[in-house]
Amino acid sequence: MKILVIGAEGQVGTFLLRELASSQQVSGTSMNGVENLPRLDICDAAATNKYISEIRPQHVVLTAALTNVDQCEMEPAQAEAINVQGAENIAQACKIADAGLTYFSSEYVFKGEAGPYSEKDAPEPESVYGRTKLAGEKIVAALLENHLIIRTTVVFSYLPGSLNFFMQLLNRASRGEPITVPEDQIGNPTQARNLAQALGELIESGCTGIYNLVGTTRIGRYDFAKKVMDKLGYNPGEVKPVTTAELKQKAPRPLVGGLKTDKAQAMLKKHKLWDLDTALDYTIEQMKRG
Ligand SMILES: NC(=O)c1ccc[n+]([C@@H]2O[C@H](COP(=O)([O-])OP(=O)(O)OC[C@H]3O[C@@H](n4cnc5c(N)ncnc54)[C@H](OP(=O)(O)O)[C@@H]3O)[C@@H](O)[C@H]2O)c1
Repeated sequence: MKILVIGAEGQVGTFLLRELASSQQVSGTSMNGVENLPRLDICDAAATNKYISEIRPQHVVLTAALTNVDQCEMEPAQAEAINVQGAENIAQACKIADAGLTYFSSEYVFKGEAGPYSEKDAPEPESVYGRTKLAGEKIVAALLENHLIIRTTVVFSYLPGSLNFFMQLLNRASRGEPITVPEDQIGNPTQARNLAQALGELIESGCTGIYNLVGTTRIGRYDFAKKVMDKLGYNPGEVKPVTTAELKQKAPRPLVGGLKTDKAQAMLKKHKLWDLDTALDYTIEQMKRG
């Protein structure tokens, strides 16, 4: 299958390009034209349409988004332009090119009071980021029959330059900097390679609709951070707990979050979703290989 990954220099896009290349004819675009990828700004509807109609993919994966949750809260117009209008531009282009579309969404579509959530639970986003991701979901579902909506959360990997949670912990620990982590946020950390493998299998199987794709371990951020430190050989006691309220971040966070994986697990045969130990052991092995 000919697959196009939009946002291929981001964390998830990077792993998708690597993983899908073994079984599919995959190409990608980036916002800034790095890593020799063609540049595509999804806010430019004409350019998006032109590019997708020229490449003629059978399936497009949209990972590009404004993912900084606090930035979205401070710049809602920008969040709307990228996460909603950008998604609509991609969906319209896929419709014209008769391509299927995978849209990446988030656990943040939920309020985070009653997790873990299944695909059938009613979304109720609290933040601008969550609202724009949900609006994107609705547009994609309304425009395209052949759509897959992937909800994920706390995606991590060994990826120098990325600010994912694992890399933030690694960078801080190696520099001897203080590490404070919220003790009241629960979710399912998700390894980026496992996410990419699982998505590849769902696309190959022709799945449509909403799927939660996350790691199978539901854990608080503080305990997750201590586990990472321990596995990296640092003292877990260096991690200090704080409450989310104490951090005074701009955007509200889902606290009692997490996503149920029964639907995806029932579908996945080749690439089961990983538990946290498997995910961390793989990540550290990846780090040692460099
Ligand atoms: N990472 C997570 O924990 C997580 C959790 C839940 C859901 N998700 C969703 O999963 C998807 C992938 O996340 P990720 O971790 O890979 O995010 P990421 O590393 O921040 O990558 C997103 C990419 O989108 C690009 N981008 C921003 N605006 C664009 C535009 N107008 N046109 C084209 N590209 C643009 C960014 O480029 P610049 O960096 O140059 O701006 C960045 O490379 C996103 O849709 C996100 O909402 C992620």
